Amino acid sequence: MQDDAVLKITNLNTYFQTPDGNVSAVCDVDIEIKKGEIVGLIGETGCGKSVLGESVLKVLPYNAIANGSILFENSELMGYQQKQMRQIRGRKIAVIPQNPSEALNPLIKNKKQIYEAIDHNDKVKGTEKKKQALRLLQKMHFKEPEKVLDSYPHRLSGGMKQRILAAMGLCGNPSLLIADEPTKGLDAIVRSQVIETLMLFKENTGTAMMLITHDLNFAIKVCDRIAVMYAGELIEVGSSDEIFNNPLHPYLMGLFLAQPENGLIPIEGASPSLINLPPGCRFHDRCEKASEKCERFHPEMKKTTLTHEVRCWNL
Ligand SMILES: Nc1ncnc2c1ncn2[C@@H]1O[C@H](COP(=O)(O)OP(=O)(O)OP(=O)(O)O)[C@@H](O)[C@H]1O
Ligand code: SF4
Ligand SMILES: [Mg+2]
Repeated sequence: MQDDAVLKITNLNTYFQTPDGNVSAVCDVDIEIKKGEIVGLIGETGCGKSVLGESVLKVLPYNAIANGSILFENSELMGYQQKQMRQIRGRKIAVIPQNPSEALNPLIKNKKQIYEAIDHNDKVKGTEKKKQALRLLQKMHFKEPEKVLDSYPHRLSGGMKQRILAAMGLCGNPSLLIADEPTKGLDAIVRSQVIETLMLFKENTGTAMMLITHDLNFAIKVCDRIAVMYAGELIEVGSSDEIFNNPLHPYLMGLFLAQPENGLIPIEGASPSLINLPPGCRFHDRCEKASEKCERFHPEMKKTTLTHEVRCWNL
C-alpha cells in the first residue's frame, strides 16, 4: 500500500444470499483513499453505495457475504472480528449517519451524549471531559459551546445536530470518515451547513472521507475525487475536475443531463437486476452507443489518464 493511502480496497465483492438467488451488490471494487482526501461515491439508488460503506465498517446484515481485501492503515479488516472492529468503528473510522435527528437521543442532554462518545475513546475525568467537549464544539464552530452542552438536541437545528455528531466523531482522532447521504432530504440552507461541517471536519482533522451521495453537484463541490457506481461496479473514477469537465461513460453523461440545470432529461430504462446480471456491459440496454460487443463482453476499467479510469468499450 502506498504510504499515503488510508484505505485500500481491492477486489471487494459483497453479495446477499436470498431465496431468489444471490444479490451481487458490490462487484470487484478497487478503490483507494489517500490521507486527507475526500472521495465521493455516487450512483443511482440500489447500485451498492451503502453496501460498499457497510462492508468497510463491517455492519452488513446477516445474509451478506463479503470477500476481497480492505486495508485500513495497513491492517487487513477483512479478517477482523466484531470485537476488533469496535476498536476501530467510531474511533479510527468515524461515521456521520444519514439522519442526525435519529442518531441523537432527543431526551438526553447534548453533554451526556458527547461525554459518552469521549468515554468510548478514552477514559478521562469529569473536568477534563468537559474541557475536551468544549474544545470539540469550538472546533466545529459553535459560538456558545457551554450553552450547547447544557441543552437538548431538539432545541438545535438539523445543521447544528450534524455538527454535534461531527464533534463526537472527532473524539477518536479518526483518519477516515464515512458519511452516507449526509445531505439527503435537507433543504438548501441545512445542505450548505452540512457542506460547511464536512469542510470543518476535514480542516480540523486532516481526515480522509468517503462521501456517499446521490447528489452529483454536491460531490463535485466537496470531493477531490469521484467514483461512479452502476449496478454494483465502478464504471468511472476520476478527479472532480475530470468527472465534471470530461465525463466519459455514457451513464455519467446521462447523470449530468438529468441534473435540473441541464433540463432534467432522465436516463431511459432501469438498471439490471443484481440477481441476474447481463454478461456484457451492465449499461448496454440503456446505452445509445451500445454495440454487439457491449452486449456480449464485459468491459474492464481502462485508464485514460493517470487519475481517470472508465469501464466502456467505446473509448
Ligand atoms: N439484506 C439484504 N438482502 C438482499 N439484498 C439487499 C440487502 N441489503 C441491500 N440489498 C440490495 O443491495 C443493493 C445495493 O443496496 P445499497 O443499499 O447499497 O444501495 P445504494 O446505492 O446505497 O442505494 P440508495 O441510494 O437508495 O441508498 C440493492 O439492490 C439492495 O436491494
Ligand atoms: S461498453 Fe458499450 S454499452 Fe457499455 S457504456 Fe460503453 S458503449 Fe455503452
Ligand atoms: Mg444507500
